[in-house]
Amino acid sequence: MRYLSKTTAADKLATQCLILGVFEGRQAGESLNSLSTDTLTALKSVLKKRDLNGKCGQTLMLYDVPGIRAERVLLVGLGKKKNLSPKSLASAMEKAITQLNDGATRDCAFLLPPEFADKSEIYAATRDTVLAAEAQLYLFDQCKSQKDRPLHPLNKMTLISGSRAGASTVKKALSHAQAIAGGMTLAKNLANLPGNICTPSYLANQAKKLGTGNAKLKVSALGEKQMEKLGMGALLSVSKGSREPAKLIVMEYRGASASSRPVVLVGKGLTFDAGGISIKPSANMDEMKYDMCGGASVIGTLKACAELELPMNVVGIVPSSENLPDGAANKPGDIVTSMAGLTIEILNTDAEGRLILCDALTYAERFKPAAVVDVATLTGACVVALGHHTTGLLANDDKLADELLRAGDAINDPCWRLPMNDDYNRQLDSNFADMANIGGKGAGTITAACFLGRFTEKYKWAHLDIAGTAWKSGDKGATGRPVPMLMQLLLARCKLAE
Ligand code: BES
Ligand code: MN
Ligand code: ZN
Repeated sequence: MRYLSKTTAADKLATQCLILGVFEGRQAGESLNSLSTDTLTALKSVLKKRDLNGKCGQTLMLYDVPGIRAERVLLVGLGKKKNLSPKSLASAMEKAITQLNDGATRDCAFLLPPEFADKSEIYAATRDTVLAAEAQLYLFDQCKSQKDRPLHPLNKMTLISGSRAGASTVKKALSHAQAIAGGMTLAKNLANLPGNICTPSYLANQAKKLGTGNAKLKVSALGEKQMEKLGMGALLSVSKGSREPAKLIVMEYRGASASSRPVVLVGKGLTFDAGGISIKPSANMDEMKYDMCGGASVIGTLKACAELELPMNVVGIVPSSENLPDGAANKPGDIVTSMAGLTIEILNTDAEGRLILCDALTYAERFKPAAVVDVATLTGACVVALGHHTTGLLANDDKLADELLRAGDAINDPCWRLPMNDDYNRQLDSNFADMANIGGKGAGTITAACFLGRFTEKYKWAHLDIAGTAWKSGDKGATGRPVPMLMQLLLARCKLAE
C-alpha cells in the first residue's frame, strides 16, 4: 500500500473514505473538533443511536455525511480513552483496514488522534498503524493457481496530522515502517514457501537478488567446497544427509566507513528439518519448513537496512541446509570438528541448528563485530517456556541484552531473557568429545544457548530463540518476527528510532 502524510483539513480532503476514531462510551475524540458544525451535528446524532459504542476495533460505515468531501466516513472504536496507545490504535485499525480492503474503497485517509501529542507518540502511532495495516493486507498465494484476491484492494492511505512538525514525524515513521514491513513480507514469503521450493540454493539466490544494483549491499554465498576449506565440519555434517548443497549466505551492508564495526546478524536457515536419523514424529512435521525463519528474518532485515540507507554497517550471515535421514547423514554418537577446532559429539541429530550456527558464529569473527545477534528456531523447549508471544533471549553481554529487550518492547515484538551459567554449561559435557550437542534433561533452550556460547566468547553476543514466535500453526503462516525488533535495535543505534 502507498502511504502519504498530509496536514490538509480532514473535511477538505478528497478521499473515498475518511477514518475517524471514537472512544468507548461514544466519546468523540479531539479529532472531531477539526470538522465543521454540520459534520459534527450529523456524527453526534449517529452516535446517539448507539450502534457504535467505541470498543476497540468496532466499526460503523457512514454515507452522505454533510459538510465533508470524503465519500464515506468509517467510525472506528478506539477503546477507552485513558488506554489509548500506539498499540491500541494499531489493533483498532486492523479491523478498519480489513473492512476497507474487502469493500469498494481503494483509498482512505486517517485522522491521527490529536491525543497523541509528542513526537515519539506520533512516530510510534504511525509506525504501528502501518505495520498493522501491512500485516492485514498480507496474502500468500504464490503456490495457488487460482488466486482469490479482493475485488477492490485498498492501495492508498493518507495520514492526516494537525501540524507541520507532526507531518514530518509521520513522514519519517512512514518510511521506517514501510521498510520494516517490506522486510517482514520478504521474510514471510520465504518462510511460507515449502521446502521443495525454498532450498538453500533458493534462499541464496533470493538474497543475491537484493544485492544486484545496490552498491551498498554485497551478497555472496559460500558453497560446500569453500566451507570445507574453512573447516566447517559441524555445518557440513548436517548437509551430508541431504541432496541439496548447503550454502553460507553472506550479506554485507555498508552504510558507514569501513572502520566502523558492523552489527552481525546470524540466522538459522534450515530449509527443512526432519530431524535426521533422530527423526521427528510425522504429526505437523510440515511445519519444519519454517526452520529457516531465523535466516529469513536476517535477509528481511538486511533488505530494510539497505532500503533506509542506514548510516551504519550491518552484516547478515545465513547458514543454510536441510536435515534429513539418509545413509550419509549424521548418526547419534558421531563426532565432528567445528571450524573453531572444537569437537562435538552428536548425541541427537535433531539438534542440528546449533551445528550449523556454531560454524557461522565462528565465521562472524572475521568482521570484527561490534555485536553479534543470532536468530534461530532452535528449541521446542522455548515454546514450552514462553509460548507463542515472547521470543527467548540469551546473551553474554548485559548491555546488548537490555538493548534488545528495550527494542522489542518499543515495537511490540517482545523478548524475555533467560539465564546462562556454568551449571547449565556443564550439562553439555561429553565423555568422548569437547562437548555434546544436547544438554540432557531440563532447560533445553538454555543449554542450546550455552552450546552457541562456546563459540561466541570473542565478541558481544545475543541469541534469539524464535521457535514460538516465528510462525503461527495452522493456516496463519510465518509472522516476520523478529524483523521489527532487529530493525528497532539498528535504528536506535543510529539514533533514528523516533
Ligand atoms: N527446529 C527444531 C526446534 C523446533 C521444534 C522449533 C519445534 C519449533 C518447534 C530444532 O532443530 C530441534 O529439533 N530441536 C530439538 C533439540 C533437542 C533434540 C535437544 C528440540 O527442540 O526438540
Ligand atoms: Mn532439529
Ligand atoms: Zn531445527
